[in-house]
This record gives sequence, structure tokens and C-alpha cells, in this order.
Amino acid sequence: MKVLGIESSCDETAAAVVEDGKRLLSNVVHSQIDIHAEYGGVVPEVAARSHIEMINPVINKALDDAGCTWDDIDAIAVTYAPGLIGSLLVGTLAARTLAVLHGKPLYPIHHVEAHVYANFITEQQSPLDLTLPSKQPTFPMLALIVSGGHSQLVLFRDHGDYELLGQTGDDAVGEAFDKVAKILGLPYPGGPSIAKAALEGDAYKYQLPKARVQGSYDFSFSGLKTAVLRAVQREVGVDFTYPSHQLPELVSERQRVDFAASFQRIAIETLVDKAEKAFQDFHPDSVVIAGGVAANQELRRQLSERLPITIEYAPMQLCTDNAAMIGALGYYAARHSAPTPPQDLEVIPSLSMTKTAWKSVVKETT
Ligand code: KG4
Ligand code: ZN
Repeated sequence: MKVLGIESSCDETAAAVVEDGKRLLSNVVHSQIDIHAEYGGVVPEVAARSHIEMINPVINKALDDAGCTWDDIDAIAVTYAPGLIGSLLVGTLAARTLAVLHGKPLYPIHHVEAHVYANFITEQQSPLDLTLPSKQPTFPMLALIVSGGHSQLVLFRDHGDYELLGQTGDDAVGEAFDKVAKILGLPYPGGPSIAKAALEGDAYKYQLPKARVQGSYDFSFSGLKTAVLRAVQREVGVDFTYPSHQLPELVSERQRVDFAASFQRIAIETLVDKAEKAFQDFHPDSVVIAGGVAANQELRRQLSERLPITIEYAPMQLCTDNAAMIGALGYYAARHSAPTPPQDLEVIPSLSMTKTAWKSVVKETT
């Protein structure tokens, strides 16, 4: 079964064709990073306008690269939640129109749940040349989902059947990377810039606090971000009223890389501590990481070191936003649930992942 996945929830316009939930036939991502970089973050209206320009060319390229015509496509899967409303509307409207035009079943996909399914892609068609895991994860599966908007630990018992074990009570970890990067004057997006700067820094130079959160598997990152701000102000000799946007001018290159490394170490340790606890309590058969922060090498290193299980990681290109993950999850949604009539598909900008578990509303299982 070939599924066309479409993703436009934030600042990437993406389309991909995935066969049987695991074989990637094409993977097209148009990133708007350059457009938003000058503002230091995503501007929703600008993002939506760029999606409108790019959505059709990106979908056509995904079909071409896959060597497919519309006759070859069995279903369309599209991100409908969560995300920026204007961005989501562009992708879902395109998907609804194409579903009607070509008579294809349509499956709405939850973006955060889909991030996990990047780990299910184990085969690819040339000239794609990604370093893929050797086999699909098995259930029960512990997923650490870490993106710009989410930090969650989720236990999957099966496709569409999962339980949220813990989540952040304030900032997502990716958001903390982005905000700390701004304090240090590192370029947007902050995650990759901090990771790169940290390579040159001393991760033990600054002692930053690790949040202790009520609830075994919950996280908190806003305290860490504020601790970095206060420590930087102290280090450069200004008081706590000094505006954070003027700090980068006062921070030396040495301080910048040492703060990046010290922050990254604590942020990652916080995630790995909770993942380790969940692993010990639930004994999952496999562990996966998902979302943009899953591209972080320090996270991969610490997790592999601490958990007594072999973890296979999805390639970086499938950790940040893409449509391959939408097409992969779309296959399982198509196998286990009924399609949504195109006219009924609405976007939901804020929707918790657990509200979408579809195992309980299964129409048939094979
Ligand atoms: O999943 P994603 O592409 O978009 C959302 O759905 O949020 O995640 C984006 C987040 C950003 O906060 C970005 O700074 C972070 O992922 N990120 C990283 C790395 N690459 C991207 N964080 C840490 N290390 C990285 N290498
Ligand atoms: Zn994402």
C-alpha cells in the first residue's frame, strides 16, 4: 500500500510517498528556516504564505521522485494537529482537495504521534541514501518525544494504543534550546547551534540545576533556562534586570561554548534520567526517540550509555519535521481505522496526542 504523506504544521512544507509503512519511495522537504532566521523565530503569517506557494510543487516532486502517478497512490495522510493554524490549513486543504479529485481515502494524522513513526522506516528506494534502522521497533515500545513544542514519554502497547507516562509542565526541551541559544547569541534554530557550539565547550564549567519535578516521569525546563540567564548575567557582570537580548554582545566566545555545553549536558541528563526510570519500571521491548531534538548526538550518546538495550536511531533528516513520518503512520491508520470524509476534516491547532489513540475506535484489525 502506497501512502502520500503531507506535512505543513509549522515551517516545513513536506510530502513523501511511503510503501507499507516502512519503505520510503520519496522524501521532499522545503524548509523555511532561511525565511524565518532574520526574525529569530517562526512568523505564522509568513509561514502560511510560503506553504501556499510550495505545497503543490512539493507534492508533485514527491510523486515524481517516487516514480508514481496518482493511480499508484492508495491513500493520503495529512497532519491536522497540532501546529500553527494557518500552516495546518494549507496542508489539509490541499489533501482534502486531492482526495476528492483523485478519489483517495484520507487519514488525518497527529504530528507528534507521527514523529515516533520515523523509527518505522527501515527501507528506501534509491537514490535516497539515509542511514536507516535495520528493523522496525517492537511493542511494548517506550518513546521519548522531544521537539520544539513537546517533551513526552509515551508507552506504546501497539499501533494507536498508547499511554502518556509523563510530559513537561512548562517549556518543551527544544524550546529551551531555542531560548538559551538566543541568550547566548547563537543563530536560529537554537538546537543545532547549541549542539555545534557545545562540541567546543566544557560541559562541567557551569553548575546548572536539574529540576526535580513531582510526578515520576514529568519534566520541567523553564527553571533551567532561567538559571542559564542568571548565570550568564552574573558571569558577564550585570544584574538580573539587564535585558537578555543585549547579553550576546557581552558574552565571550569561550563563555558561549562553555554555557552551550553545560546547558546541553543538564537538559539531556534530565531527559535520560526519566527515560531510564520508565525503562526500569515498564521493561519495554524497544526504545525510540522522536522529534527535532532526537537529532542531538549527545542525547543519543547518553541514552545508549545508560539504557541496557540496543537503540537504533532514525536518521537526522527524519527526526526534524518531514512527511515520511506522516506517510508511515498513515499506513497503520489506514489498516486500523476508517478514513475521514474530506469535507469533515478540520484542523486542531492544540490537541494532545493521547486524545487521538485510535485502537479503541478500531474498525477492523488484520
Ligand atoms: O520536531 P521539530 O522539527 O519541530 C516541532 O515539531 O517542534 O523540532 C524542532 C526543535 C527545535 O526546537 C530545534 O531547536 C530542535 O528541535 N533541534 C535540536 C537539534 N536539531 C533540532 N535540538 C537539539 N539538538 C539538535 N541537534
Ligand atoms: Zn515536529
